[in-house]
Amino acid sequence: MNVDIDIKRVVLKTKRLKLRSWQMSDLDDFYAYASVDGVGQMAGWSPHKDKEESKRILKHFIDERKTFAIVMDDRVIGSIGIEKYDETFMPEFEYLKGRELGFVLAKDKWGQGIMPEACRAVIKYLFEDVDLDFMTCSHFLDNDRSRRVQEKLGFHKYKYNENYTTKDGTIKPNQTNILFKEEWLDEPH
Ligand SMILES: CC(C)(COP(=O)(O)OP(=O)(O)OC[C@H]1O[C@@H](n2cnc3c(N)ncnc32)[C@H](O)[C@@H]1OP(=O)(O)O)[C@@H](O)C(=O)NCCC(=O)NCCS
Repeated sequence: MNVDIDIKRVVLKTKRLKLRSWQMSDLDDFYAYASVDGVGQMAGWSPHKDKEESKRILKHFIDERKTFAIVMDDRVIGSIGIEKYDETFMPEFEYLKGRELGFVLAKDKWGQGIMPEACRAVIKYLFEDVDLDFMTCSHFLDNDRSRRVQEKLGFHKYKYNENYTTKDGTIKPNQTNILFKEEWLDEPH
């Protein structure tokens, strides 16, 4: 089952990063990376067309209290959302507590291990403080970068969905990976 999440007052720190809830003053940074071609598409959404679109989504981030802003050198460079996993697709976890991780990073920061570093802090928080039993994380079959991030974090293959429908209505094969709390405690990645 999905559990309630509220990260409004949560701040996580890593060697290079700070993760905190979003604020309206992040709008310029958000628009700067979310409007770049080739970023959102890999996560199932189209590049933002204008700042108004970013503003509307930023307001959702603030209201919904489940998405971290990733801050590096005083600039917001990405996000990690603690989304609801699909309970209809995975009804077998009715008695376990879970959520799904979703993430995006500014294109100019790719390839420096930033997302794995940020996700490790979020995973630690979700298993140790929120006490989740499992987490899922998904990627389109052709998204090798996301697949690698998930492998490096210890997620392993769980289920395929040949006909996954994205937010913009595209149908693409998708793979869902899973990480259980015991696995992470035995061998944190
Ligand atoms: C997926 C994403 C978050 C990866 O973040 P990251 O911090 O760059 O991750 P890493 O640095 O660990 O790199 C992951 C893999 O990307 C590849 N990569 C490395 N350098 C790269 C570069 N300069 N440019 C592109 N890809 C690169 C490598 O295969 C690397 O795996 P490796 O460590 O085994 O070599 C980022 O690419 C992104 O935001 N992509 C668009 C949105 C997206 O796909 N979100 C996930 C949806 S499921």
